[in-house]
Amino acid sequence: MNYDKKIMRKILGIASLVLVAAAVIIACRHEVPEQNMAEKCLIPLPGTITPQEGAFMLKKKTVIAVDKDNEQLLALGHYLAGLLKPATGIEFKVKTTSRLTPGGDIRLTLTNDDPDLGKEGYELSVTRRRIHIKANTPAGIFYGVQTLRQLLPPAIEKKTVQEGPWLVPAGTITDAPLYSYRGFMLDVSRHFFPPDDVKKIIDEMALFKLNRLHLHLSDDQGWRIEIKSWPKLTEVGGSTEVGGDKGGYYTQEQYKDLVAYAASRYITIIPEIDMPGHTNAALASYAELNCDGKARDLYTGTNVGFSTLCTKKEVVYKFLDDVIGEISAMTPGPWFHIGGDESHVTPMEEYIPFINRAQEIVARHGKQVIGWDEISNATPQPNTIVQFWARADNAKRAVGKGARVIMSPANKAYLDMQYDSTTTLGLHWAGYVGVDSAYIWDPATLVPGIGREQVVGVESPLWTETITNMKDLEYMVFPRLAGHAEIGWSEPARRDWNDYKVRLGNFAPRFEAMGINFYHSPLVPWKE
Ligand code: ACM
Repeated sequence: MNYDKKIMRKILGIASLVLVAAAVIIACRHEVPEQNMAEKCLIPLPGTITPQEGAFMLKKKTVIAVDKDNEQLLALGHYLAGLLKPATGIEFKVKTTSRLTPGGDIRLTLTNDDPDLGKEGYELSVTRRRIHIKANTPAGIFYGVQTLRQLLPPAIEKKTVQEGPWLVPAGTITDAPLYSYRGFMLDVSRHFFPPDDVKKIIDEMALFKLNRLHLHLSDDQGWRIEIKSWPKLTEVGGSTEVGGDKGGYYTQEQYKDLVAYAASRYITIIPEIDMPGHTNAALASYAELNCDGKARDLYTGTNVGFSTLCTKKEVVYKFLDDVIGEISAMTPGPWFHIGGDESHVTPMEEYIPFINRAQEIVARHGKQVIGWDEISNATPQPNTIVQFWARADNAKRAVGKGARVIMSPANKAYLDMQYDSTTTLGLHWAGYVGVDSAYIWDPATLVPGIGREQVVGVESPLWTETITNMKDLEYMVFPRLAGHAEIGWSEPARRDWNDYKVRLGNFAPRFEAMGINFYHSPLVPWKE
């Protein structure tokens, strides 16, 4: 081949790459995002995306292949097969094999040899013949599977057979999260949500690579977890909720089942028993937890800050030991959340020793403490994590005492805040939190003096004073939780609202296919 021809080939090669890249971006904004491995379709935004020409097509003969007879890898293979089956109508085979199958394969590989991928990163490469997900850990494979899911057409999420073709655009994605803690909190106390609702939320969290589900299991209005040594907590304390309806609770079997379901989606459950305030449901169940020895009436209103355990009574610490012990024994994750917020009727000189003693009890049951930012008034243990929600001075004090911080600033991260003055669900004591405002902040620069090193991650709490059913719950959670997931996962320098809102807009058909009720914010160019 002569020199001119070589140059000509090179120019043509480069030009076709440019054309493909342009097509990717244009297509994603318009009709066929599913045929291009474009960052415009993915949330959270991955680390690097290198699109290539062509696509892999799912076919009847496509095999989900794992390299080793590894139980977790096989479970991931079956999880993927389960995701793909309803809409494609194909029962994909899951096999341990190193051979490339004629129908093409989706291969899951544990490598252990790529330090850049860390504990949760993955590499996803797609050619016409193979989809290959590699990671150091099963969690990394799971996140690669979520990205693969987002690269398929939204109809893949439907529960009935849809028409293909099921194309996955070619290219390579290398990706790893910024923060290790990417959470959602559900208040099941103000209104109770049965296990199936929680499972639906877990599945929705998984799509966005969230990995922590904090369950706010007790408050003034309801006690929601069976404690065998203190049965009246649920018999009495679990019998109602805000507004006076019947409430409910999780049996220990149901809780364990939720923990296992979450674990199968690489989500760790963090149980919270709020104390010493936010305890009216317990105080109504057992008279001896009150200083005056009189049981309180059940409470179905929405005030805060009026209840406290009697911190001077020894029986209260027996109660804590039993409750924390039973819950810890059912919770494989390393954390136990002790609340500690808004204990307005507990004098500070009682609050501090109480929190310190509660921390000791948690440690004795083998768990690490998490508490709301007020617990920084006490002495955090070396591994205690403080959850910033309201007061920057509390969070800074915590860091000064050596604690690390979960970022849940109410005016950015609270999913119970109204979107704007025209949306009716929720509250606005921390302000209105639009989809843009929820996205535009950086956990590492929000509080001066608290940087990336001190931040464990981000959590989005949904308090449920005004939220009574799944439809309303999802309306508050989506789409803001998707933005928070990206804040927890993607480098801030690469995040941009104008780019994000286009990607988010492309999620409308996927939300619809998943049966997620979401707020159609006018700030977002929703795709039809
Ligand atoms: C809180 O919102 N009271 C933590």
